[in-house]
Amino acid sequence: MTYFSLSLVLESRALSTYERLLEGEALSIVISPVSDEVVIATDVPGENIRVDWREVKLTAYLPLQADLGRLRDDLKSAHPSALKDISVEIVSSEQTAKTLNNQVVPMQFGKSLRISPRADRKVDVPDHGPTVYLDAGIAFGSGTHPTTRLCLEWLEANANTAPINFLDYGCGSGILALAAVVMGHSGYAVDNDTQAVDSAVSNRDFNQIDANKLSVLSVPDWQRKRSSLSGSFEVVIANILAGTVIDLRCELIEMLKPDGIIMLSGILVDQVSSVRSSFDEIKFEEPVENDGWVRLVGSLG
Ligand SMILES: C[S@@+](CC[C@H](N)C(=O)[O-])C[C@H]1O[C@@H](n2cnc3c(N)ncnc32)[C@H](O)[C@@H]1O
Repeated sequence: MTYFSLSLVLESRALSTYERLLEGEALSIVISPVSDEVVIATDVPGENIRVDWREVKLTAYLPLQADLGRLRDDLKSAHPSALKDISVEIVSSEQTAKTLNNQVVPMQFGKSLRISPRADRKVDVPDHGPTVYLDAGIAFGSGTHPTTRLCLEWLEANANTAPINFLDYGCGSGILALAAVVMGHSGYAVDNDTQAVDSAVSNRDFNQIDANKLSVLSVPDWQRKRSSLSGSFEVVIANILAGTVIDLRCELIEMLKPDGIIMLSGILVDQVSSVRSSFDEIKFEEPVENDGWVRLVGSLG
């Protein structure tokens, strides 16, 4: 298949605005620094010191049917003083996958969980602890995006429980579900994008995880199973976008065990209150933020 690759060079202060504009349409978004130059931002004097790249390149992969004319107008008017350059190329899926594969870099979450590119399986020593070998392909979920990182950090910090049954709704590459499985749990991974489902299955197989431990399903297949699984998950994860998470509210809550935990990600700071008020039966812990994105964890009150 062939895609548009839309690249923006922008000041990092405008990054979340542009991510938000593109998230609805992009199959995947990759962010990289333009140079080593950084800015240091201090929200409160002496606290919350952030080091950001001054300028970043954001590359969004878009389907050919995307309305590029409208999108360009929206992008140009969103934050004109921060947008330095905008360009579009047509790329094949092979090129796209190659670019994105490079984005899986070895990462460690907490004390033990590791995400590594598939190629590292040959060189890793066996006693590294729980490790997911990943090829994101063109699916979202290489581990570098703050929304994914927030979920991986929570999974790692809460790994020392008895094995649980989890649902990862909007699984992308399968990264969160695979991380949960290598830490001893089992569950379901669901996505409405067939390429994400294919990617998650391929990553599950590469990690030699049995389909009984992790069932990867398209949304239609999930809908056929859903009623038999309602109320059976100790943990329900949805790292999608605030609007979609709100639309899926009933379905996500229905899947929780009475004492189950729900983890929502893909939420921007200014969307937290609308998500919290939509999920009014959930008692949420304090939100946790990373680079403008927020993780919400809660349980039925
Ligand atoms: C932000 S990505 C998260 C991927 C991965 N779970 C992670 O944490 O990196 C969101 C995923 O949700 C999927 N998605 C979006 N809307 C959905 C819906 N209504 N039902 C199921 N999946 C959906 C997208 O295809 C995408 O793969």
